[in-house]
Amino acid sequence: MIQSKKTLTILGIETSCDETAAAVIDSGKGLIAHSIFSQATLHKKFGGVVPELASREHIKKLLPLIDELLYSNELQLKDIDAIAYTAGPGLVGALLVGSVLANGLAFSLGIPSISIHHMEAHLLAPILEGDDLEMPFIALLVSGGHTLLVEVQKKGSYKILGQTLDDAAGEAFDKGAKLLDLDYPGGPAVAQLAKSGQRDVYKFPRPMIKTKNNLDFSFSGLKTALMYKIRELNKEQMLTNQIKADLALAYEDAIVGSLIHKTDRAIEVTGIKSVVVAGGVGANQKLRENMKFKLAKREAQVTYPKIEFCTDNAAMIALVGLFRYQQGMENVDYQIEVNPRWSIDNIYQINS
Ligand code: KG4
Ligand code: ZN
Repeated sequence: MIQSKKTLTILGIETSCDETAAAVIDSGKGLIAHSIFSQATLHKKFGGVVPELASREHIKKLLPLIDELLYSNELQLKDIDAIAYTAGPGLVGALLVGSVLANGLAFSLGIPSISIHHMEAHLLAPILEGDDLEMPFIALLVSGGHTLLVEVQKKGSYKILGQTLDDAAGEAFDKGAKLLDLDYPGGPAVAQLAKSGQRDVYKFPRPMIKTKNNLDFSFSGLKTALMYKIRELNKEQMLTNQIKADLALAYEDAIVGSLIHKTDRAIEVTGIKSVVVAGGVGANQKLRENMKFKLAKREAQVTYPKIEFCTDNAAMIALVGLFRYQQGMENVDYQIEVNPRWSIDNIYQINS
């Protein structure tokens, strides 16, 4: 972590989807503490995130969460030098809750606010564990809302190499889980069921694997293939628990296989041999193991954030807030600005 004369203390706030999170980072000591309230139970019965409910829950939970985080770490608001918050991409109402609270609090304390790009925070999250990342690297960003391959030349400079043309990888897991009658969030549920599946009973196509010079992804056809298979098996009254597990395994294999194949191609195309996998789907054990194995053949290295920093958290938001502050990019006009579709290739322009 970069040292400055006076250490800086940044409060990070994350409310882009269904996790309400807060964190405090110090430029000298590193991450002091972070705290997450997951809304998963609230959204479970709907099989996915309900945006209106997510916003209301953030309103209820965010302030007490910050209060408790500061109190339990013997910190006070006067110890904070700036407040960093997720300004996009994400659900508009959920983002607004974080933005309003961060700007209101910063205004009242007379300190700057800093708007952060959620996906940039995901890709820099491994730095939370200590060492800086070696540049350049390729980032595979896989979450509930995004699937992107990004070339990172330096912090703040991101070039999109490929992205999903339809569903995100996490969305494919969540929709697949729903079809298999599993709980939300679907990724961990499908992965768990897949453990008791038998390989090669079913096989789903790896989407877009034959488009050689294209680094884009597509997962909606895969979901449809699963839907038709389940319908057919249901009609024949053959959808046993074992068959569900076999399907879960084939489905997980197809998603993971497609992510690994395109990452491998990105290494071939760019010649960059360092990869960071981040975002919620980066918590998938099969992806972690198989990616490591495949990339070793190219003498390429793969880095992951700790599992707790793969899924949404505010530690990564506070971390990027610290970098922005050190770059002199804090904001003192307290604009309540969010961009639900903010592109990562222009993180200095929230309206891009
Ligand atoms: O990054 P994240 O926490 O939130 C977004 O910004 O979307 O990612 C959430 C996504 C969900 O779709 C969830 O099903 C998926 O990450 N996920 C997983 C696993 N853990 C979370 N997918 C596959 N395997 C997992 N172990
Ligand atoms: Zn995320």
